[in-house]
Amino acid sequence: MLDHLPDRVSIYEVSPRDGLQNEAHPIPVRGKQRLIEALIASGLKRIELTSFVSPRWVPQLADADQLCRAVTAPADVTLSALCPNAKGFERARAAGLKEIAVFMSASETHNKKNTNKSVAQSLETFEEVVPPALAAGMRVRAYVSTVWGCPYEGDIDPKAALEITQRLLGLGCYQVSLGDTIGVGTPLQTRRILELFLGQFSAETLALHLHDTRGTALANALVGLSMGIRDFDASVAGVGGCPYAPGAAGNLATEDLVYMLHGMGVETGVDLDRLIDAGKVAESVIGRRLPGKVHQAGARTLRRS
Ligand code: HMG
Ligand code: MG
Repeated sequence: MLDHLPDRVSIYEVSPRDGLQNEAHPIPVRGKQRLIEALIASGLKRIELTSFVSPRWVPQLADADQLCRAVTAPADVTLSALCPNAKGFERARAAGLKEIAVFMSASETHNKKNTNKSVAQSLETFEEVVPPALAAGMRVRAYVSTVWGCPYEGDIDPKAALEITQRLLGLGCYQVSLGDTIGVGTPLQTRRILELFLGQFSAETLALHLHDTRGTALANALVGLSMGIRDFDASVAGVGGCPYAPGAAGNLATEDLVYMLHGMGVETGVDLDRLIDAGKVAESVIGRRLPGKVHQAGARTLRRS
């Protein structure tokens, strides 16, 4: 399984959005900005800043417009944000973003709880988002959540996610990120899901969005890597979770992913020491201990004799 590792993978950093959307205490724009600046300084090139969702549903990200105005990034860094509908897209366009992400769930119940829509209604809504965004020169990414399991419905037939992915790519999304939203996946399950998906879609059109709730995210990422996946979502210091998915704590920590990849000779373009510094900024901004393993243990220290 480790014989055909790639030279390089791309990391899509979600901490400012997936990380901060679940925090109980409000975090000021300046704190979010400090985190994003530290992430950029570590060499990350794709960062999801926030969500243009209803402030009543996710008050933690109600400052999305203000945050986007406050952040500046070098030209080679892509900043993105979640958009659930046409209103979200208009806000993202007004904020000057070049990329957005639409999101929905493979499970009817989670989709309803998260967006107040059925799966069919979400797909209809995205017909009012994706083509106008493409026409405005933006790139559009998509998420399909609860592919490995749903907090309300339990096991989910991966074929439901497969059909949704087909529709989202057909609409013009450049990539679909498959979500283990509540971190229940195991490596064999990941292999079975990816066998199904890679039978129909090229690896470049797929990413993995893994939560580490039960400690299996890195193992699942390794299965994806060995099967040709080259795009991984991660969140510095392992901060994260979905407010409408009970128990969805902890995204795959970016430092843990980078440590594993670099240790196997797979490049990411990220400076691990500076990423660890960004994790410390996250901890100071959020104001509590964060769960990432490398965040807590540090990069390997060698004793000199
Ligand atoms: P709704 O209540 O059905 O919306 O919510 P509505 O269209 O009926 O509008 C109600 C009010 O919200 C109106 O305001 C709208 O203007 C306003 P009012 O007239 O009452 O004053 N509104 C908005 N305001 C600002 N921006 C908008 C917007 N849209 C409507 N874009 C809606 C439907 C989708 C808006 C709501 O359910 C929502 O915002 N949901 C977002 C939930 C969310 O962000 N969840 C977390 C992200 S998903 C996740 O974490 C999973 C992921 O990480 C992958 C994984 O882990 O698997 C991506
Ligand atoms: Mg998530």
